[in-house]
Amino acid sequence: MSPALDSLQGKTALVTGGSRGIGRAIALALGRRGASVAVHYNAAAEAAFEVVGQIEAAGGRAWAVQADLADPSAAERLANAVRTALPDRTGEDGLDILVNNAGVGLRARLPDVTPEGFDRVLQVNLKTPFFLIQHCLPFLRDGGRIINISSMGTRAAYPEMSVYAPAKAGLEALTLLLASDLGARGITVNAVLPGATATDLNQRARDPELSRAIAQTIALGRVGQPEDIADIVAFLALHEGRWVTGQSIDATGGQRL
Ligand SMILES: NC(=O)c1ccc[n+]([C@@H]2O[C@H](COP(=O)([O-])OP(=O)(O)OC[C@H]3O[C@@H](n4cnc5c(N)ncnc54)[C@H](OP(=O)(O)O)[C@@H]3O)[C@@H](O)[C@H]2O)c1
Repeated sequence: MSPALDSLQGKTALVTGGSRGIGRAIALALGRRGASVAVHYNAAAEAAFEVVGQIEAAGGRAWAVQADLADPSAAERLANAVRTALPDRTGEDGLDILVNNAGVGLRARLPDVTPEGFDRVLQVNLKTPFFLIQHCLPFLRDGGRIINISSMGTRAAYPEMSVYAPAKAGLEALTLLLASDLGARGITVNAVLPGATATDLNQRARDPELSRAIAQTIALGRVGQPEDIADIVAFLALHEGRWVTGQSIDATGGQRL
């Protein structure tokens, strides 16, 4: 692809949960295409700095920013930290790409869910992204992108996702209405729905035997890798993705079709 067409040069991005797994691959994919990336992390500081180092080593710009997104006040603090850092870190004063990727899982059927577990999943996977968008909107530039990482658990029934799937479904509902609301500013809003992807969150997809069993439910015959998801996110962030908005985009290789 021609560099002129695929470039994110001059664009700025915030990737939540950019330290590990899918978020790490997204941060690297955006950085490789020229975006200046705020790599958000919570506990995995070393991993986040490694991602920053990789982007810088390839000639890009990146910095790490910490926040525990289970904390209800974190969305506002994270947005303010990024806004404040942007001019020094990037020479820009606005954000172009917000990727709400950080998420937590909870494998529990409805009878086994505690109010605390429910609140944590809703906080990290829905409430914090909601308020992060709210606090980033004042400095998200026209023509920008909001990309929310959901899950195929919103379109296929997995009973042990009794809290996780409804939280992600809420994120998709938010995606749709924001796409309508922000279209006048040229901002696109989409959700990307990974299937089984080999990360710390999904140890089953990493286990050789279990991943072979999961692969039998996937049309393309293997579990996903973080880069499979990151390339779809990168497409949405690029100029080439400008005409897609309000969509929940399957990123599963055809899982449980
Ligand atoms: N893997 C799959 O099969 C799969 C399938 C469907 C959807 N997804 C979705 O894809 C996204 C990424 O998942 P993943 O598989 O890459 O997970 P992962 O490997 O466990 O990584 C999770 C990321 O989220 C961050 N995070 C977790 N809790 C946080 C908190 N309280 N505050 C701030 N950051 C927090 C982590 O930061 P630190 O490490 O720095 O703490 C880490 O960077 C999630 O939204 C997940 O729901 C994954």
